[in-house]
Amino acid sequence: MQIYKVGGAVRDRLLGRPVTDIDWVVVGATTEEMLAKGFRPVGADFPVFLHPKSGEEYALARTERKSGRGYGGFTFHASPEVTLEEDLIRRDLTINAMAEDDQQNLTDPYHGQRDLEARLLRHVSPAFAEDPLRVLRVARFAARYAGLGFTVAPETLALMRQLSESGELEALTAERSWKEIARALMEDQPQVFIQVLRECGALKVLMPEVDALFGVPQPEAHHPEIDTGVHTLSVLEQAAQHKQPLTVRWACLLHDLGKGLTPEEEWPRHIAHEQKGLKLIKAVNERFKAPKDCQELALLVGEYHTHGHRALELKPSTLLELLQSFDVYRRPQRFEEFIAACEMDARGRKGLEQRSYPQADYLRGAATTARSVAVQPLLEKGFKGPELGEAIKRERLKALKAYKEKA
Ligand code: CTP
Repeated sequence: MQIYKVGGAVRDRLLGRPVTDIDWVVVGATTEEMLAKGFRPVGADFPVFLHPKSGEEYALARTERKSGRGYGGFTFHASPEVTLEEDLIRRDLTINAMAEDDQQNLTDPYHGQRDLEARLLRHVSPAFAEDPLRVLRVARFAARYAGLGFTVAPETLALMRQLSESGELEALTAERSWKEIARALMEDQPQVFIQVLRECGALKVLMPEVDALFGVPQPEAHHPEIDTGVHTLSVLEQAAQHKQPLTVRWACLLHDLGKGLTPEEEWPRHIAHEQKGLKLIKAVNERFKAPKDCQELALLVGEYHTHGHRALELKPSTLLELLQSFDVYRRPQRFEEFIAACEMDARGRKGLEQRSYPQADYLRGAATTARSVAVQPLLEKGFKGPELGEAIKRERLKALKAYKEKA
């Protein structure tokens, strides 16, 4: 048997990027031989094994043929006769379809190295279309390597468009799509992920609520970039530049969905878009079964981001309501993430990226003020149950009034 390093490990080594996990392909072996060498099978009927020591994935060279819709609708053929070239041709991108032996000799039948140099994400063969998840993968790689100058080859984008229009994307499971989305949002340029999905028509299928924001104007005085879709991309870009976590990036992507619902006669104003957007945010959250913390933050940021921007003008009672809605006493981290999302929203405006955002410290100070109200003295005064709750609220309000006057 011959063993080759394949896929991302080869690609990233040639790009001079750190290699995190290594995939191997085994040519000329049978399942029995692998088991005899101590490899552990990954699934009952899939020719992939884990190395007994390193735990890395070793797959028997295989060919694949589509047998149904969506991911999983596959039959494959693995046998000792399948060649390395046959295994590589079923892969998604030329830059992912190179193999390397233990002497670092490269096998590159589909010119991955040439495309690495040309900075092109290009599909290997028409077999690309057999896995609709690849539309998301290519958009994710575009987001990751945009900084190196990579773009999607026009013929690959055309194929992605065909796949998006064919209805195939709808067959993807929430779990698989979310995994790609979450990884893409954590890349250096997540806005490129959304842009590429939009260019190939996949955004309209996956997140029509986000797609609908393009072409929707906002008032130029607040939003020099005008277009709501362009604004959303900039907010995401800011979130990545400021190294925000996934929760914040997800909330940034969805914060303005309500603006897509504004009747054209009302443009460029978007009255109550925060409330109107909630049902859309909920729908997107649920469509991809986003983790609970992402779902929660997206809804809170959707509902309250304008409060964040107006923080310095809010009445103490409104400020208190905001803090209560976030349960800042038990969930300090979540309020920090809200503040971060508001700041990214403010910075995601053309020409205003560097403007300071004093609202952030003001909101932090307000939370600290409300939190520092001591409960013990109220207990000592004999307050109990709902009365105690009311007394705490009164004290917090008093403290916030003093805080606002001092600010
Ligand atoms: N692959 C593919 N189509 C898919 C998934 C994977 O063709 N839908 C192939 C590609 O050759 C890829 C390899 O399997 O390079 C390994 O897949 P994976 O580990 O998911 O991706 P990597 O390319 O290693 O990328 P990453 O750095 O994102 O892990």
